[in-house]
Amino acid sequence: MYSKISSLAIAPMMGYTDRHFRYIYSTLFPKLSLYTEMVNLNYFLNKTEFPKVYSNNYSRVTVQLGGNEPKKYGSVGHLLSDMGIQKININCGCPSPRVGKGRFGVVLMREPELVKECANAILEHSNLEVSVKCRIGIGSKPDFKKLQEFIEIVATSGVRDFIVHARPAILNGISPKANRSIPRLDYTMVERLINERPDLNFMLNGGIDSLDTIRSLSPSIKAIMVGRMAYKNIPELTESYKFIYGEDLNMSDGIDRIIEYIESAQSRGTNPSHIVRHLLPFKKNTPNTRRWRSSIIQKSNIEEMRPYLNELKEAS
Ligand SMILES: Cc1cc2nc3c(=O)[nH]c(=O)nc-3n(C[C@H](O)[C@H](O)[C@H](O)COP(=O)(O)O)c2cc1C
Repeated sequence: MYSKISSLAIAPMMGYTDRHFRYIYSTLFPKLSLYTEMVNLNYFLNKTEFPKVYSNNYSRVTVQLGGNEPKKYGSVGHLLSDMGIQKININCGCPSPRVGKGRFGVVLMREPELVKECANAILEHSNLEVSVKCRIGIGSKPDFKKLQEFIEIVATSGVRDFIVHARPAILNGISPKANRSIPRLDYTMVERLINERPDLNFMLNGGIDSLDTIRSLSPSIKAIMVGRMAYKNIPELTESYKFIYGEDLNMSDGIDRIIEYIESAQSRGTNPSHIVRHLLPFKKNTPNTRRWRSSIIQKSNIEEMRPYLNELKEAS
């Protein structure tokens, strides 16, 4: 069946979407859009090297930033632009109490004027594209009007792209992890935004865990972002990719390139298991999968990992 969705992205995920993850996924799924993990603005202060944001292809990677100081956004935007980075995303969706204490993440949804100033500061100091990732609101009964107002104010900065995690954030006592499953999903709020603001681009995020879910989405949804499916369910990710882009994937060639990447990283002092851990979900389920995973991850160099990687390649 023909898909009306034209864009598939993998969500920013702390602990997952590091530079090695992004290399692997961009190699195996050439058209995916990718995001860094959230990087605090302060990370860029007093440093000359920024491995958290490195990428082999900046046209497909968006750097997600966390912070609330327009001035810092301006100078970090300038710096990232000089590095060749093209796209920045402002995190207005993280429900972690620690992040909330720092007055960024989802609590910024209460301060749309400040988010607007942050975006303005980046746009004034660089040619970067700026997007905002938010939730549908705060509290178990999110108010569409507040969401609408947030988008409206932020959009006056010139931001055109919004990623909306279609769950509210509950800030009194549930963990960030529970905040990804307990608050109720409501895709209709995102559909309403799409209908009301055809001049803006909205990417739907939250709970998209299979091709069936993707097929069931409203035809007004043109862009989607998946989080957990990307590391929990590679077969569904693969089918979803093929459905959206209408093209087959050559995993075997991709794995050869990843092996070269591991060799080169190891020669520069990177522990290859930091890369290989992102390949574990790619092993198809067979009686020997568990053993394969626990064995390859214990190897300390590419030479010992190679037979396992060849096995992965042959099964792909
Ligand atoms: C392990 C993990 C780490 C995450 N880290 C971030 C992050 O750094 N920045 C962010 O905006 N969202 C983060 N998220 C939220 C995801 O980007 C996404 O909004 C959420 O998982 C809902 O999508 P899903 O239902 O497809 O997983 C994280 C999610 C997970 C599972």
